[in-house]
Amino acid sequence: MIIDGRMVAGKRLDLVRKQVDESGVQPCLATVLIGEDPGSKMYVRMKHEACEKVHIVSVKACLPATATTMEVLAKIRELNNDPSINGILVQLPLPLQVETSRVIQAVAPEKDVDGFHPCNIGLLYAGTPRFAPCTPKGVMTLLDAYNIPIQGARTLIAGRSIDVGRPMAALLLHRDATITIAHSKTRNLKDEMRRADIVVSAVGKARFITSDMIKPGAVVIDVGINYLDGKLCGDVDFDQVKDVAGAITPVPGGVGPMTIASLMENTYLAAVERSCTNVS
Ligand code: GUN
Repeated sequence: MIIDGRMVAGKRLDLVRKQVDESGVQPCLATVLIGEDPGSKMYVRMKHEACEKVHIVSVKACLPATATTMEVLAKIRELNNDPSINGILVQLPLPLQVETSRVIQAVAPEKDVDGFHPCNIGLLYAGTPRFAPCTPKGVMTLLDAYNIPIQGARTLIAGRSIDVGRPMAALLLHRDATITIAHSKTRNLKDEMRRADIVVSAVGKARFITSDMIKPGAVVIDVGINYLDGKLCGDVDFDQVKDVAGAITPVPGGVGPMTIASLMENTYLAAVERSCTNVS
């Protein structure tokens, strides 16, 4: 079975639009783009297009590639203090001279729709998530949309990044999966992976996962975004793994669209939470 992320994301966006229209709140997302990286520019543009689709207002702050940490922090402070904005997304990666961790920590936790602030990561690991990072949240939505059993499932997450691997583990654990996080120092990755009922790959290596690494019938979720000969491809060698897996996400058209749908959901949530806090 091929898991259709575009279809599921489309349905989620329809739902967010309906919720926004019926809620009486007007969510507003601010994106911060630093520099001219074509990939980052494209992602930010896609996020603004999604906002328009679901009736979320969006504003864009652009800073030059030469911006200093202090200049970025000043912009974030301005957005934190602006009551018309309820979600802030700083597009990563940042230019080398900008201290990413300081920038992430400067975003007001209640506006951190990316879910990268230590407060939100802490809440996630405490089992009381507020904003879950968008990509792993989107993976959970996909698994649920296809009724894939999570409780007790042996899951292997390849990659331990802050934005995917670690929050993915917390979300799956929250749903009673048994978790293994594999990384570059893991011994016998193939043996570990072959035991898994669900594999989530976020390693960033094109066609790294081959059919001999997958248990027949396993669910394979490919978070990888790699380019091979100028062509977008995932971490999984899709053409061979699809014949072994029970279900698999393609790249493109799998997890990617879900990330943006989750961002819209988080932005809506932030707006609703703020309106609740203001009322009380
Ligand atoms: N760059 C790549 N993925 C992401 C993401 O999920 N959020 C942000 N802010 N930047 C990214």
